[in-house]
Amino acid sequence: MDTTAMNARTERPAPEGTRLGEMWDILPEESAYGENGELTIGGVGVTELAERFGTPLYVFDEAGLRRQARRFMDGLRERWPASQVMFASKSLPAVGMYRLAQEEGLSVDIAGGGELRLALAAGVDPERLHFHGNAKTDDELRMALDAGIGTIIVDNEDELDRLERLLERPQKLLLRIIPGVEAETHASQATGGKNSKFGLPVDQAARAIERMRAHPLMDFEGVHLHIGSQILNTRQFAEAVENISSVGTFSTYDVGGGLGVKYTYDEQPPSVEEYLDAIVAAAKAHLPADAKIMIEPGRSMVARAGVTVYRVVSVKRTGQVFVAVDGGLADMMDIALTDQRYEALLANRIGEPWTESVQLVGRQCESGDLFIDGAPMPDAKVGDLVVLAATGAYAYTLANNYNGALKPAIVFTRDGEARLVARRETYDDLLALHEPANRGDAA
Ligand SMILES: Cc1ncc(COP(=O)(O)O)c(C=O)c1O
Repeated sequence: MDTTAMNARTERPAPEGTRLGEMWDILPEESAYGENGELTIGGVGVTELAERFGTPLYVFDEAGLRRQARRFMDGLRERWPASQVMFASKSLPAVGMYRLAQEEGLSVDIAGGGELRLALAAGVDPERLHFHGNAKTDDELRMALDAGIGTIIVDNEDELDRLERLLERPQKLLLRIIPGVEAETHASQATGGKNSKFGLPVDQAARAIERMRAHPLMDFEGVHLHIGSQILNTRQFAEAVENISSVGTFSTYDVGGGLGVKYTYDEQPPSVEEYLDAIVAAAKAHLPADAKIMIEPGRSMVARAGVTVYRVVSVKRTGQVFVAVDGGLADMMDIALTDQRYEALLANRIGEPWTESVQLVGRQCESGDLFIDGAPMPDAKVGDLVVLAATGAYAYTLANNYNGALKPAIVFTRDGEARLVARRETYDDLLALHEPANRGDAA
């Protein structure tokens, strides 16, 4: 255990008997050890955040989000000037985030009508939108075409049938290809293996490409791939670039997202720079020098900048120590879906020795609603605040109403200020959907 590591932002040593020194690499970049012994994010203390906005609460370090966007954009441009970085918006589909992406100059990938509406509401230039999905409906395609969508990433030939019916003006298209890389990640997050439901296998690509090239309104630009998410081995990205080069010579290659992030003390993910080095080295070896390269990071763009703040509701000592908080699977599905492990902090008392190893549990009616099996922390009391680190990606996305839970609010913090970017769902919101049942005209 490293008890001497310093928090660079406050120059205060990590207290004895804690893992705070290691925690700074998982928490948002603009996190600090506040004067009163609490965690601050973007200069705002967790106590103030919890009191002002309630819990559970998704809190994002806005400066960290913007810095990460620039790391990707500047890093890729330095290595391959004809390039474009898209924010994979499924990782944080919030109007405040779409707006930030637009302000930072990112393009945006959407994968459904709802994400399209959110992006447009945020003022994202439709030309910068790229529409993914293996089962886009007529209605969604029509919405996208009406909005003047920049590029549609075609998944299959049924989608080409639809586009043949719907297109009224020229439309830029890419074709999603299965790159045949079995990504080393949780099965539900691997999307580029030979049995993937996404895209066409290499040997079926030629016919689809021919159809697009032959159509007067289809402006076929190139190919797309995505091997999966939370990938920690950069060789797999390079392998995918090499595999897709066999499909042909095009003006654009979109090599997807998928870079993994650090969730736990033990994980050592590649840096953005190492990731970019790997894909650009493969591109230099296998792709045309004048092609445009696009990437679509989601998780690695937003995961670290976000945390979830919970309040402790009960502490039960039954042989095990159960620390139960006011959230759970309803705001953090990823743990159940992908077995992803997380780290937590008793955030209003970070300087106290972490003397206990607790079962950090949620409030949903499943025993699998277990955040951490053996979380080290001080002896938690009812009313304390728990921060689950690195929840910026896919937690809000997957939030649901299990046990009638309300979708938490999102707050961005920066330079000591906090601003609400998405309000908490209310019981009235929840009931509004069920109004027909009360009117008795639910037919
Ligand atoms: C087509 C596509 N691009 C990009 C992403 C983003 O992946 P990640 O969040 O792992 O970067 C996904 C996520 O599943 C995806 O399906």
